Amino acid sequence: MDTYIREICSLPVGTEFEGFFFIEHVEIKKHRTGEPYLKLILSDKTGTIPALWWKPPKDADLTIFQRGDVVFVVGHVEHFQQSVQPKLKEIRKADSKEFDSKKFISESRFSIEEQFNSLLEVIDSIENPFLKKLLENFFYDDSFVKKFLKAPAGKTIHHACIGGLLEHTLGVVEICETVAKRFKSIDRDLLICAAILHDIGKVYEYEIDVTISRTTEGILLGHLYMSCEMVTKKIDEIEGFPHDLKVKLLHCILSHHGEYEHGSPKKPKTLEAVTLAYADALDSRVKGFEEHIERELGTNKGWTRRHFAFEVPIFFDGNFNYGEEK
Ligand SMILES: [Fe+2]
Ligand SMILES: [Fe+2]
Repeated sequence: MDTYIREICSLPVGTEFEGFFFIEHVEIKKHRTGEPYLKLILSDKTGTIPALWWKPPKDADLTIFQRGDVVFVVGHVEHFQQSVQPKLKEIRKADSKEFDSKKFISESRFSIEEQFNSLLEVIDSIENPFLKKLLENFFYDDSFVKKFLKAPAGKTIHHACIGGLLEHTLGVVEICETVAKRFKSIDRDLLICAAILHDIGKVYEYEIDVTISRTTEGILLGHLYMSCEMVTKKIDEIEGFPHDLKVKLLHCILSHHGEYEHGSPKKPKTLEAVTLAYADALDSRVKGFEEHIERELGTNKGWTRRHFAFEVPIFFDGNFNYGEEK
């Protein structure tokens, strides 16, 4: 039976399990006797877990296991320093026909259809005819929408799931809407349009296989540039689109990571751009915390391991849950 990591974490010590897992990390280590063993970090969509192949057969070639492989393992549950750390008695590379890739990539926990309808309602509420036309040209185009609804918003840090880009986009839109209600000097239509389009380059920045990875285009160009390019092309198809509006919209997209060291070639220099940058950071940071806690729920209590990007461990109480779904 194919076991999920979340289940393994709740099994009593000594229980046997088997299943397909993704190798996040692998190292060949040596016992004091000089015999080699394998230290792994395994993952699926429910979490990550350290594991040891403590006593491989003498003739086993340990070098064949690489980060990114999917492996089939048989092992039993053990605990080490209050964390679950199974010991494996068998491990082999898996063939892609053997496992269901849905085990590795999760989907947005909210209905894709309902979220998309909410996005269309927001687009409908835009009064500026040029911005509305621009958004309609993207979101009434079936082939773009198909890609947009599937795209993740990240590889690991936040919204790393099918439909993650849609969920993140709506999150940023909702935060921006709240800010625009409070600060009347903000051009609400420009801000909301920028919020909807700010990450659309991610449609081409990431690809989904067994895991989410960056495309060559994504690595070389990045989604800030790619989003601007896509928006520029669509704007140029709209007759009479005001030049200053185009510049202000592109500035919001280009500066939405806020700082040079976060990949923004420009810092925010308008009310709408600074609002978008903070809304983007807020939605992605809180979601990133949630996802990290969820991944670690079974392995630790109270504190997560240090988050590789946020550089802190995260504290949560035992009752962590997402609450009511929308
Ligand atoms: Fe972004
Ligand atoms: Fe974003």
